[in-house]
Amino acid sequence: MPSNDSVLVTGAAGYIGTHACVQLIEAGYQVVALDNLSNSSIKAMHRVYELCGVSFPFYQIDLRDAGKVKACLHEHDISAVLHFAGLKSVAESVEQPLAYYQNNVVGSINLLMAMKAVGVRKIVFSSTATVYGLPDKSPVNEQAAIRPVNPYGVTKNVVEGVLRDLCASDASWRASSLRYFNPIGAHPTGLIGESPRGRPNNLMPYITQVASGQREALAIYGDDYNTPDGTGVRDYIHVQDLVGAHLKGLLFLGSTTGYSVFNLGTGSGQSVLDVVKAFEDATGISIAYKIVERRPGDVDEYYADPSLAKADLQWQASLGLEEMCRDSWAWQKANPKSFE
Ligand code: NAD
Ligand code: UFG
Repeated sequence: MPSNDSVLVTGAAGYIGTHACVQLIEAGYQVVALDNLSNSSIKAMHRVYELCGVSFPFYQIDLRDAGKVKACLHEHDISAVLHFAGLKSVAESVEQPLAYYQNNVVGSINLLMAMKAVGVRKIVFSSTATVYGLPDKSPVNEQAAIRPVNPYGVTKNVVEGVLRDLCASDASWRASSLRYFNPIGAHPTGLIGESPRGRPNNLMPYITQVASGQREALAIYGDDYNTPDGTGVRDYIHVQDLVGAHLKGLLFLGSTTGYSVFNLGTGSGQSVLDVVKAFEDATGISIAYKIVERRPGDVDEYYADPSLAKADLQWQASLGLEEMCRDSWAWQKANPKSFE
C-alpha cells in the first residue's frame, strides 16, 4: 500500500499534474507539489485542494533554479517523483529552442541532481509520442524508430537518454518514461481541466471553445489524408486514464529496477470528424467546421500499441471518446475563462 509515501509532483498546477495530485491523494499518497506557474495558475491548486478535501505543500519553484529544487527535496522525505514540469508547444519550440532546452533538459537535470543529492531514486517522466516523429506505421510500439522532428520532441528524447544512462550507471535508480499519445478530457466534476493560453493549437480545446461560442468554427486541417474519412487520425486518451498509468508506474518502480519506457494510448485511432461527431453526440451541441489547408508537419495517422503497459504496468485505458468529450465539455462549460 502506498499510504504515507510522499510523491513530489513537478508541474503540479498544470493540466495533467493537477489530475495526478488528485488521484495520488485519493490513493493515499502524501503529495508535495512544485510548479513555477509559467503555464498555469495557483487557482488550479486551490481547485485541487477543494477536490481532495485537504491541502498539501506547494512550492512555486522554477526547475532551472537548482538550489531551490534541492532545498525543496531536502525538506521532505520523498519516495518518488512524477515529473510533469516542462514546456510543451511544438511551434514555440521551433521559435525558441534555447528556452525549450533550458526548461526541459536543464530543468530535468537539476531535478535529477537534487534527487541524487538527497537519495531519491524513483522517477516517472512525462515523455511524448512526438519522439517517434513521423512513424512508418501504426500501431506504434516502443521499438519504433525515434526520430523527433522538432526541438520539443528532441528535448524529451534527450531527457529519456539521461534517465536511461543514469539507470545504467547505478542500479539503485529506477525510471520510467511514459510516452503520451493525445491526452484530452478533464476531471468529471468539471473543476479542473486543460487551460490553453490564447488560441488553442489542439483539437479538443478548439472544439469546446466553438461549442461555448468563443470561436466561430473549427478549422479542420485537411480532408485528403490517407485515412478512412480523409481527416487526421490520432489516439485520444482520457487524462484520468493517463494519470492512472502514472500510479501504476509508481508501483512498478517499487518492484523493479532499471529503466523502462511505455506508450500510453488507447490503442485505437479516431479521425477529426469522429471526434466532432462524438462531441456532438455527447453534448447535443453541433460544431460548425470548415475544411482548410493541411497544417505543416501533421501526419495521416498514428495510434499506440499500448500492450507493453498492459503487460508490465497492468494498466489499460478504460474511458472512451464519449467520456472524453463529456468531461472536456463539463470543464469548459463551467469555466469559460479557465481558472479566472
Ligand atoms: P501544462 O503546461 O499544463 O503543465 C506543465 C506545468 O509545468 C505547468 O504548470 C508549468 O507552469 C510547469 N512548468 C514548466 N516549466 C517549468 C519549470 N522550469 N519549473 C517548474 N515548473 C515548470 O502541460 P501538461 O499538458 O500538463 O503536460 C505535462 C507534461 O506532459 C509536459 O512535460 C508535457 O510535455 C507532457 N506531455 C503533454 C502532452 C499533452 O498533450 N498535454 C502530450 C505529451 C506529453
Ligand atoms: N486539428 C484540426 N484543427 C485544429 C486542431 C487540430 O483539424 O484546430 C487536427 C490535426 O490536424 C490532427 C488532429 O486534429 O489531425 C489532432 O491535432 P492536435 O493538435 O490536437 O494533436 P497532434 O497529434 O497534432 O499533436 C499533439 C500535441 C503535440 C504533441 C503530440 C504528440 O499538440 O504537442 O500531440 O503527443 F507533441
